[in-house]
Amino acid sequence: MGTPHNGAEKGEIAKKVLMPGDPLRAKFIAETYLDEVKQFNTVRNMFGYTGKYKRQEVSVMGSGMGMPSIGIYSYELYHFYEVEAIIRIGSAGGFHDDLELMDLVIAQGACTDSRYAYQFDLPGTFAPIGDYELLSKAVSLAEAKGTKYKVGNVVSADVFYNNDDRVNDRWKSMGVLAVEMEAAALYMNAAKAGKKALAMLTISDHLFKKTALSAKDRETSFNEMMEIALDL
Ligand code: ADE
Repeated sequence: MGTPHNGAEKGEIAKKVLMPGDPLRAKFIAETYLDEVKQFNTVRNMFGYTGKYKRQEVSVMGSGMGMPSIGIYSYELYHFYEVEAIIRIGSAGGFHDDLELMDLVIAQGACTDSRYAYQFDLPGTFAPIGDYELLSKAVSLAEAKGTKYKVGNVVSADVFYNNDDRVNDRWKSMGVLAVEMEAAALYMNAAKAGKKALAMLTISDHLFKKTALSAKDRETSFNEMMEIALDL
């Protein structure tokens, strides 16, 4: 028996799951990098696959866009499928002056403008953080590969087409490196479930430099990040 959003039977999903936003990326990763691939989900075309990478079992599944979407899929993976670690591999818009297109950002923390944390009824604000072990391993792998990376805070926003540019200035003034739309929900779900999560992001556009990646460069930088995520 699956869930309303995932057709997998228990045991069909690996302990480690890579989550790109786009389900077609999940398909690409499965077809390019994994052996003995079995598709476990087609519900809503949110494709999910389990296979082997360097003889270790790993799954890859789309998360969709935004915190509600990754919130649902990651909750189900942690609670109904006994998944231990979810690694988001996505893109982000850069804020920091030193960030260039294609750079990797490893999200140590994830601020947010969403109300996602209200469900936990905490007597203050919660600081969503990535798993330290995964983070330090990702840093070592990025060093070994010679990938240009930064570790720090990101912001998970509910709005992509923001009407007010000053919002970005304010996050930037707090040292926030980049904006994306999913990490904070993933980190909160991991915390509540007592499991692991890490978000790795390639810079696909820069909000202050007003630059954006071509489709080709987007693919190249994504592949480098994907290889790091697979080795975690
Ligand atoms: N993901 C990639 N670029 C982004 C941006 N500018 N805003 C939010 N999410 C993003």
